[in-house]
Amino acid sequence: MKVHGVFLVAVFFYLMYTLPVNGQPRKDCQTSCGRVTIEYPFGTSQGCYYANDPSFKLTCNETDQKLLFGRTIEVINISHSGELRVWNGVSYACYNSKGDLSDDISYSYSLANLSLSRNNKFTLVGCDAFAVLSTTGTRNYSTGCLSACDSLPPANGECNGEGCCSTDVYVPLDSIEFETNPHGYRELTSVLDFNPCIYAFLAKNGTFHFNASEDLKNLRNVKEFPVLLDWSIGNQTCDQVGNRSICGTNNSTCFHSTRGTGYNCKCLEGFEGNSYLSNEHSCQDIDECTTHKHNCSDPSTCRNKDGGFYCQCQSGYRLDATTMSCKRKDFEWANILLGTTIGFLSLLLLISCVQHKMKHRKAAEL
Ligand SMILES: *[C@@H]1O[C@H](CO)[C@@H](O)[C@H](O)[C@H]1NC(C)=O
Ligand SMILES: *[C@@H]1O[C@H](CO)[C@@H](O)[C@H](O)[C@H]1NC(C)=O
Ligand SMILES: *[C@@H]1O[C@H](CO)[C@@H](O)[C@H](O)[C@H]1NC(C)=O
Ligand SMILES: *[C@@H]1O[C@H](CO)[C@@H](O)[C@H](O)[C@H]1NC(C)=O
Ligand SMILES: *[C@@H]1O[C@H](CO)[C@@H](O)[C@H](O)[C@H]1NC(C)=O
Ligand SMILES: *[C@@H]1O[C@H](CO)[C@@H](O)[C@H](O)[C@H]1NC(C)=O
Ligand SMILES: *[C@@H]1O[C@H](CO)[C@@H](O)[C@H](O)[C@H]1NC(C)=O
Ligand SMILES: *[C@@H]1O[C@H](CO)[C@@H](O)[C@H](O)[C@H]1NC(C)=O
Ligand SMILES: *[C@@H]1O[C@H](CO)[C@@H](O)[C@H](O)[C@H]1NC(C)=O
Ligand SMILES: *[C@@H]1O[C@H](CO)[C@@H](O)[C@H](O)[C@H]1NC(C)=O
Ligand SMILES: *[C@@H]1O[C@H](CO)[C@@H](O)[C@H](O)[C@H]1NC(C)=O
Repeated sequence: MKVHGVFLVAVFFYLMYTLPVNGQPRKDCQTSCGRVTIEYPFGTSQGCYYANDPSFKLTCNETDQKLLFGRTIEVINISHSGELRVWNGVSYACYNSKGDLSDDISYSYSLANLSLSRNNKFTLVGCDAFAVLSTTGTRNYSTGCLSACDSLPPANGECNGEGCCSTDVYVPLDSIEFETNPHGYRELTSVLDFNPCIYAFLAKNGTFHFNASEDLKNLRNVKEFPVLLDWSIGNQTCDQVGNRSICGTNNSTCFHSTRGTGYNCKCLEGFEGNSYLSNEHSCQDIDECTTHKHNCSDPSTCRNKDGGFYCQCQSGYRLDATTMSCKRKDFEWANILLGTTIGFLSLLLLISCVQHKMKHRKAAEL
């Protein structure tokens, strides 16, 4: 029994590892780099990525097997719904015991036609410090954070301005570049012994949890955080592109990009695959029956259909919608029959009773 279980688990992981759809328009397109699957509209060579926008061209460094967006941004994951998950470096500034700057790095990244998702937070970790997030584009924009403290803040896990400050990211859509910059004002402060360096970084909401004693010391040696970039196709809406959209012809549909410009594609309900393709990797019907996504319960049997499933019962039975199980079709007739029989019998009983009583009375009168 145990061996069986282990075997099933092994099969499961094998399938998980090998199943990811090779979502590319041509057989000769690279489908993965390291552990990341490359899905159209992203691609690594001409004819593989969406040709009208070079932002979708990624590079795979064959030496270290890292997938790169632009020259330096490492890709973690590509999602069809319009997100690119990437690693982003932590900018920092370190000070020596005299309060002079001893070491610092400020990262600057190019976004091409992608944009910073509002699902990221800009965070500063440090005492007596401020940090700036600035973007360049048709409009230049800056936002920032400030933190002041003269002793180690309480370890309550809150990023509330004491040792840690965090702000939402609402940068203009057309920003083509962004930079994170930490600054300290350390000349007169006593924080150096517990906070030698200050850090400024972007991170997907929920991926950083401040711990004062650990993070003010060295940010637990974390050098990068996952950040979400939004992508969409072109700068027109679904209505404007009409049937010129690049959405697949197989059960795929266009939707307005959540970032506010362009569109994305998704599979219709009950289908899965790459919604930007029209080949064998396009949206395909999900077989709910073999993948345990149905709610038919014994003895009804699941039958797959395009975009869904239905539950079937043997002839003479019907499906009960609340239990998704089968009930005898003649159930009601039986009820009616039983009801009338009982009714008839009671009537007979009543009549015989009355008759009996009348006989009794007659006997008494006599
Ligand atoms: C690929 O990665 C290696 C190791 O990180 C690095 O030395 C090399 O410069 C990279 N190549 C390119 C083309 O970026
Ligand atoms: C990539 O994202 C998809 C959808 O959000 C998720 O199911 C999958 O586990 C992710 N893969 C990795 C390697 O993070
Ligand atoms: C952005 O997209 C436009 C087409 O919509 C393209 O001409 C331009 O080259 C793209 N910019 C970058 C940096 O890839
Ligand atoms: C960030 O996540 C928290 C919960 O984890 C949520 O309450 C908050 O609304 C999120 N903020 C944004 C900007 O999405
Ligand atoms: C935005 O900043 C860049 C670089 O700092 C500068 O070259 C450009 O002129 C600025 N643009 C505007 C509209 O101020
Ligand atoms: C912070 O880290 C310390 C040491 O690792 C740990 O004891 C403490 O529970 C952590 N505090 C929070 C709020 O996570
Ligand atoms: C949309 O993109 C095209 C090509 O890049 C450009 O010529 C046009 O001005 C853009 N339109 C808007 C409304 O941004
Ligand atoms: C797209 O729609 C237009 C008009 O709505 C029609 O004339 C054209 O044939 C359609 N093109 C395709 C490829 O379906
Ligand atoms: C899915 O696509 C196929 C082939 O294009 C089509 O025959 C079928 O009607 C579509 N199903 C739905 C539910 O749209
Ligand atoms: C739809 O998917 C089927 C099944 O993989 C594929 O053979 C077919 O070429 C696709 N049809 C269209 C119209 O793209
Ligand atoms: C069973 O699943 C179908 C389709 O997913 C749904 O419409 C229905 O409400 C479900 N029924 C029950 C009893 O859960």
